[in-house]
Formats: sequence, C-alpha cells, structure tokens
Amino acid sequence: MPKLAGKTALVTGGARGIGRALALKLAAEGAHLVINDLDAAPLAETGAEIETRGGTVATLAGSVTEDGFAESFVDLALQRFGGIDIIVNNAGYTWLGTAAQTSDTQLEAMLRVHVMAPFRLLRAAHAPIRQMHERERAEGREVFRKVVNISSMAGTGGVAGQFAYSTAKAGLIGVTRTLCREWGRLKVNVNCVAYGLIETRLNMLRETGGNVVRIEGHEIELGLSRRFKENTEAMIPLGRIGTAEEAADGAYLFCIPESNYVSGQVVTVSGGLSI
Ligand SMILES: NC(=O)c1ccc[n+]([C@@H]2O[C@H](COP(=O)([O-])OP(=O)(O)OC[C@H]3O[C@@H](n4cnc5c(N)ncnc54)[C@H](O)[C@@H]3O)[C@@H](O)[C@H]2O)c1
Repeated sequence: MPKLAGKTALVTGGARGIGRALALKLAAEGAHLVINDLDAAPLAETGAEIETRGGTVATLAGSVTEDGFAESFVDLALQRFGGIDIIVNNAGYTWLGTAAQTSDTQLEAMLRVHVMAPFRLLRAAHAPIRQMHERERAEGREVFRKVVNISSMAGTGGVAGQFAYSTAKAGLIGVTRTLCREWGRLKVNVNCVAYGLIETRLNMLRETGGNVVRIEGHEIELGLSRRFKENTEAMIPLGRIGTAEEAADGAYLFCIPESNYVSGQVVTVSGGLSI
C-alpha cells in the first residue's frame, strides 16, 4: 500500500528542480498532486510525467504572488480531489545583492514570493482544513495534515551578498514556528526544510552565462559564481552538492505519517553543512 494513497498534495513551483522531484515522489507514493509554476510549459511537462508514471495531477500556471492565486489553488484541490492533506510552499528564486545594493523593489519581491505567498496560501487553506478537521474529530478520527515550507541556510544563518533572499527565507521560518502553534489543534504538522547547496537552476555557474530569467517583469540573473560555489562545496561534510531528488527526499520526510509527532522544526538538508 503506498504511504500517501488518497492524500492530496499541493506543491508550488513544481515544474522544475526540487519541487518537480518532490511532486514525482509524492505521486509515486499515491498522492494526488496539485502543482503550480510560473512557467506553463515545464509545468505541463511535469504534469504529463506524473500521469505517465500512473499518478493523478491537476496543474495551475501562474505566479504564487498574484492576487487570488491562493484561493484558486485551494479550490482546484478541493474540486478535483475533494481535500487538502499536504501543502509544500516551494516556489522561489534568488535575487542576489548585499544590503547596500538592495533596492526596495528587490526586497519586496523576495518577501512577496517567500513570505507573503506562503502566508496567503495557508490562510486560504485554513477554512477547509478546519472543516475537514472538525468532521474527522466528530467521527473520532485523528487525521494529520502537513505543511512544509521550503527555506534555506541563507535564512537560518544569513549569507553575505544574499540580503533580500536571506531575510525573506528567515521570515518563512517565522511563519513555520507560529503556524505550528496556531494549527496544532487542527492536527497540522508545520515544518520547514532549509537547504544548503542543491544542484538546480538556481545554482548554475554564472560564468557560463545565459541564466537570466524574466520573473514578474524583472530580469533576474540566477546562479552563483564559480568561487562561491566551489568554496561552499569544499565545506560540505558529505563532500558534494546535493541533487534535487536528495533535497526532495528531505522534504518528503515531513509529508509522511512517520513525522506525525514532529512540528515547528527547521531541518537542514545540506550534506552536513552548517553555517
Ligand atoms: N537549489 C538550492 O540550493 C536551494 C537552496 C536553498 C533553498 N532553495 C529553495 O528551494 C526552492 C526550489 O528551488 P530550486 O532550487 O528547485 O530552483 P528551480 O529554479 O529549479 O525551481 C524553482 C521553481 O519555482 C518556480 N517559481 C519561481 N517563482 C515563482 C512564482 N512567483 N510563482 C510560481 N512559481 C515560481 C520557478 O519557475 C521554478 O520552476 C526555492 O524556494 C529555493 O529558494 C534552493
């Protein structure tokens, strides 16, 4: 029996990288997937891959920061699959710069995608989760639901040159810890995964060029310098950068019944790296 049979999992930013790997993993364990991404084409491709492997999926393209996105995403899950069991706030990107270099626009963009959007999605999910919980309680059943917020070691420790991103990812830890206290009585486990260095589009080498993406009207250069990447990799106790699948496995631990008594935690998935 798959571990997540009959559960419905919502994953933002599920078209590529860690979100894609996690969506595939959750689907392989029997969950119905509701996935979103800014980019419609890779989102459709991930959706098709889930179906090819025998899973069920609904997709919603668009930015998590759009007004009304949270309500539409929650409605899609309820209408297609009749419930919400797992919410993974994964959509995000880096917009680098020291504090001195950071504009108001840049900080606002990072806060909107990493704090405001997860908050709005969780707020929109609150009423249906409460209703489902009350029904289950009346039936004498204890059903756990899962929130996994995807943060970063930039958020736990701060990284020079990543001011807006680090600040926003630290904010998401605040969301996690507070919601753990507010939603515990609804039997919702709220946890956070802080990644170290994972090999995705975010960490491509800047020197290879061509990694400028257009997000919400801004031209943003993703990637890391060779020097930063190599120096960081040299400090990883397990000796190398993690894969998207390994990163997804770390988040998966908070989606399964074995973590039902774990809440309010920030777990670093970094090959042992700490800052
Ligand atoms: N890769 C790492 O080393 C690392 C480290 C720490 C934290 N993270 C976090 O992990 C998460 C996943 O990143 P990844 O490394 O897989 O990167 P990625 O770029 O491969 O995937 C991120 C996905 O999120 C989508 N996205 C970005 N902004 C969005 C928006 N506003 N609305 C909807 N979708 C949006 C992108 O289109 C992309 O498909 C992010 O929150 C990132 O900050 C990654």
